Amino acid sequence: MSRLVVVSNRVPNPRATQPQAGGLAVALSGALRRNGGLWFGWNGQLSQTPVSRPRVEQADGIDYATLPLTKADYDDFYLGYANAVIWPVFHFNLGAMDYQRRYSEGYARANDLFADALAPLIRPDDTLWVHDYHLMPLARELRERGIHQRMGFFLHIPFPDYDVLRAMPGHRQLLDDLCRFDLLGFQTDNDRHAFEESANRALGALVDEPGRVRHRNRTLRTGVYPVGVDVDELAELSRRTLTAPRVRRLLDGLGERDLMIGVDRLDYSKGLEQRFRAFEALLQDYPHRRGHTVLMQIASPSRSSISEYADLRQRLEGLSGHVNGCYGDLDWAPIHYLNRTFARGSIMGLYRAARVGLVTPLRDGMNLVAKEFVTSQDPDNPGVLVLSELAGAAVELEDAVLINPYDVNAIAAGINAALAMPLPERRRRHARMLEVLRDNSIGAWEQRFLDDLAATAA
Ligand code: G6P
Repeated sequence: MSRLVVVSNRVPNPRATQPQAGGLAVALSGALRRNGGLWFGWNGQLSQTPVSRPRVEQADGIDYATLPLTKADYDDFYLGYANAVIWPVFHFNLGAMDYQRRYSEGYARANDLFADALAPLIRPDDTLWVHDYHLMPLARELRERGIHQRMGFFLHIPFPDYDVLRAMPGHRQLLDDLCRFDLLGFQTDNDRHAFEESANRALGALVDEPGRVRHRNRTLRTGVYPVGVDVDELAELSRRTLTAPRVRRLLDGLGERDLMIGVDRLDYSKGLEQRFRAFEALLQDYPHRRGHTVLMQIASPSRSSISEYADLRQRLEGLSGHVNGCYGDLDWAPIHYLNRTFARGSIMGLYRAARVGLVTPLRDGMNLVAKEFVTSQDPDNPGVLVLSELAGAAVELEDAVLINPYDVNAIAAGINAALAMPLPERRRRHARMLEVLRDNSIGAWEQRFLDDLAATAA
């Protein structure tokens, strides 16, 4: 069997003692732990001068090959083109795009460096699987260095409609670069369709059937592979951690009150301001909920030197203080707001203890928190998921309470309905969602992508 080489910008530190945030790292750790292989990418550190020879170390049967970025690459590639240009545009938020010419240069430079460092590590029978928006030029860069092995690419975030994409400087080059892979995977059919239409309109690429794109004498396959979760592992983890002292202490403190939980990276795509306002609307529109409901919001700080993120953090602190100040009582703080990253274990126990899970992004590629929340529930007495219809997860989790994340009063009504939902209906909805998640576990996601990649002509 050929060796799997996974490439992503974010590679978790195998020796880290602190938990790390983000859906990509969670999904890939599971995939690699099952089959072994090489995981290549950024080590999260900065260096004075460019380093093109990665440090290789082994942990959990995985070879990690990682390298630092220079401060200039960190600023222009990671904070710049990847997270101040591609990220907002791909989340349909043109207002948050901050483009500078040096960002494009940094993006090209970092991909060039990654290709230089990775090429010598590649063996003739390797299969390469590149992940996410930081590394769209990598197939072209590697092919220019004589690497002709099969290469697949998976986009974890949404793909925008062409009329949004075409506002982004450099979009034609990126589309052209993506066509150098053998297989492109997307979270939903919407994303795949948006890519195909963009490739057609911007490059004149021919989509001769859905899933087959011809461009510059090459054939590229596209497919839809919604990222899943490991249902059995997470269910077991949530059962075990429900009794952890930390979780018990929290539950004792809550008494008879209903717990609602939100867990997100602190990111403007997650709809956190609307969520806090919706909680305020709940207390206003449904006064009988006052004093009986607590919203625990965990928001892990992320990309904090980008001003959009720093500003959002301030606004959220203001909003949670406002709600607590206006509605709280001597023995009740309505919002419990934490800016920290917690280990997955303790979070799974909290999910199981919660009556309502709030996942209300304004746009999201998938959102694994939604799937983890469902998986962690007690099937005999499950909590209810309130889910944005603009998250990729909504395609599969049709039995959640689906809401428009921009409509604060509609979210409040959804929360109220979730809190009032009778047990038989909660069980029915939960059982149907769990079945969907079992059919498309993380293992199936990986297998389907790799089978399809193997079936493409090298
Ligand atoms: C999202 C992206 C990932 C990214 C993660 C964390 O899930 O799709 O590519 O790794 O956020 O963001 P960070 O900037 O910390 O890597």
